[in-house]
Amino acid sequence: MDKIRIAGGRALHGEVTISGAKNSALPCIAAALLTADIVRLENVPRLVRDVSTMRLLLEHLGCETQWEGNTLSVRAANIDLFEAPYDMVKTMRASVLVLGPLVARFGKAVVSLPGGCAIGARPIDLHLSGLEALGAKINIEHGYVIATAQKLVGAHYRFQTVTVTGTENLIMAAALARGETILENCAMEPEVEDVIRLVRGMGARIEGDNTEILRIHGVDSLHEATHVVIPDRIEAGTFLMAGAVTGGAIQVNRCVPEHLTAAIEKLRENECGIQTGKDWIRIEGPKKLKPSDVETHPYPQFPTDLQAQYMALMTQAEGTSTIHENIFENRFMHVAELRRMGAHIEVDGHLAHVYGKTLLSGAGVMATDLRASASLIIAGLVADGVTMVQRVYHIDRGYERIEEKLRGLGADVERIS
Ligand code: EPZ
Repeated sequence: MDKIRIAGGRALHGEVTISGAKNSALPCIAAALLTADIVRLENVPRLVRDVSTMRLLLEHLGCETQWEGNTLSVRAANIDLFEAPYDMVKTMRASVLVLGPLVARFGKAVVSLPGGCAIGARPIDLHLSGLEALGAKINIEHGYVIATAQKLVGAHYRFQTVTVTGTENLIMAAALARGETILENCAMEPEVEDVIRLVRGMGARIEGDNTEILRIHGVDSLHEATHVVIPDRIEAGTFLMAGAVTGGAIQVNRCVPEHLTAAIEKLRENECGIQTGKDWIRIEGPKKLKPSDVETHPYPQFPTDLQAQYMALMTQAEGTSTIHENIFENRFMHVAELRRMGAHIEVDGHLAHVYGKTLLSGAGVMATDLRASASLIIAGLVADGVTMVQRVYHIDRGYERIEEKLRGLGADVERIS
């Protein structure tokens, strides 16, 4: 039950290096199930807890895994179990990403239904209807999805709603299906593109990169590959907002500025000074932050995973901004905690009206989910006095050593075990 203590009021300065993307590493690790050969994944955020959970799940299924620094090698040569148990899935709903690869390669997968989540119901109906379109037989028994198929067969499938892990699951399944699959209304997140690059490196035949229509020609088998996981654009965006809120000037290194175009545009509207290079972004927080409304949408628009952090930033803007959360129905859990720190925020369904600028005061606050905890840390950096963030296990799910990285930028932050 670690806590993170933040003494606010210091402007951040210096440089921070971004880790590999959690939301790419997870599906890339699952993709290793598609072959009996070794899959080497470089730039994997080793200290992110969800990565450990996914590695343990694959070992549970019979995989051999090995770390060398931030490189994870996985070999799914002796898979003897096809079940992702409730105890693992309940801690990380991304476990559902083993469904597509298992049923595609072995004709069988037994995966616990993920259940609800703090930010929304998050059903997986589109993952299942997509696999059914490829010929899988899907049964739900005792809280488990049982998917079976002699051999998946290519088909034409349109996602009713854009879904990131749904698209990734279907890409992996279709890669080993017989014939051609056309997927429409696909997610185009950089993490989806990263999975496409890995699976293509394993021998898959996929067309339509960076578009919402993917054409996948199934192959009989896939082979070994080495892949470098992309940097974490959400971690990068989190640090940019931390730099801006403190009125500091920081450089975020080893990131892909193009992956953050929508966030950079928004920060420029807030009057932040931003320069970008090949793999870095430099931000200077303005004397006065200008409010600007935002709407969350699938990539390439403003990501829902930066919504909470942006809200914390807007509490320090000179005026009112409206945040419209379109992706998840319950992703304002951080509002109550920000209010505890003195923020003035009114919620009306999917809209949150943030009345700035309010002086925040340090307080004991409770993290409710991964990105909500990041917003509380950002608020703590600018608050008067000490903020104590509890339940930081949420933040450890998606950030590597965040307190050390913030300290490297001059913040007065420490973890209290
Ligand atoms: C991924 O979740 C990310 N997780 C999430 O990041 C991110 O918030 C989300 O995409 C949106 O960008 C990983 O990549 C591991 P979705 P995912 O399926 O794939 C509805 C973080 O903070 N939907 O794109 O689970 C769903 O309810 C996490 O790192 C269905 O209705 O999200 C939601 O409203 C949080 N049926 C919308 O689609 C389905 O079968 C988008 O969800 C699937 C989804």
